[in-house]
Amino acid sequence: MELMSNHKATAIANANIAFIKYWGNRDAARRIPLNNSISMNLDHATTTTTVEFDSALNDDYVLIGGKAPNDAPRARVIAHLDRVRALAQIETRTRVQSQNNFPMGAGIASSASAFAALSLAATRAADLELSERELSILARQGSGSACRSIPGGFVEWLAGSESANSYAVQLAPPEFWDVRDVIAIVSTAEKQISSTDGHAAASSSHFLAERLTALPARLARVRRALFAHDLAALGAAIEEDALELHFVAMTSVPPIFYWSPGMVRVIQAAHHSRADGLAVYFTLDAGPNVHLICEAKDADQVAARAREISDVQQVIVNAPGGAARLIEQHLF
Ligand code: PMV
Repeated sequence: MELMSNHKATAIANANIAFIKYWGNRDAARRIPLNNSISMNLDHATTTTTVEFDSALNDDYVLIGGKAPNDAPRARVIAHLDRVRALAQIETRTRVQSQNNFPMGAGIASSASAFAALSLAATRAADLELSERELSILARQGSGSACRSIPGGFVEWLAGSESANSYAVQLAPPEFWDVRDVIAIVSTAEKQISSTDGHAAASSSHFLAERLTALPARLARVRRALFAHDLAALGAAIEEDALELHFVAMTSVPPIFYWSPGMVRVIQAAHHSRADGLAVYFTLDAGPNVHLICEAKDADQVAARAREISDVQQVIVNAPGGAARLIEQHLF
């Protein structure tokens, strides 16, 4: 079947920072994770994507940040469009344009906001109206953490056991807790090892089993800290979890190092700030940048201290962000 006329939609989605990380799959093809994860959407890190189905096209035309992507990222976008075409029972080809407002591949989860925005824009452009849960399931298949960028605010991805029960739900709306994620950008270079490869390597780490055993209690600590607005309790749990992700990566065979000297300097500075009475806690993604979590009232001071570190190229301050949503203004 073809969509008869042009169908266009544009969506915007926020990236998210995981407090409890997703690292390793039980089913890599469907991106069913080994564990639940918890995150906060980031209001200043967004992807905007326009999708147009056009029956006159005989191929998909994709531009990311104004450029045609390389083969692998292009194939990943097309595979996602194919999922949407299968749902809509159409074969129509598309024009897709996508724009981030932050550097790609630098440890800010660009694939999360990208596949969340693509899922919403493409389904609406195909005349499908999916529930939040269905959208989260769809986004997950493009990039695991993307399922957490569908609901707004503070979110938990329920690992589930199969595609139909592996999706994210909101724990609390953005306004529930006025915290900030001050991202200290240490490098904007593309990371050497993708998170897809990192997930695949996780099972080769002897440390993975230990992490999975510790996680149910840590997930409960993070939920409790969130609901009690207890930054010290949240901070202790998220620092542990960030380090464990990297222990698993470093003990994978062959080992994966996302660390850099600049990153360690930002982590040490956070510890020094804390010793001075400033309540700030770090977390890390699969990249070189450090996310500094603090109360809104302390964000200016945390950002100023981060800027003093010579390795820090840029600082982006994020409040809790909203859900993936449609917007009227198309990119083309
Ligand atoms: O969604 P992916 O495959 O890019 O994996 C994300 C992995 C981490 O960002 C390191 C952790 C997380 O839960 O976001």
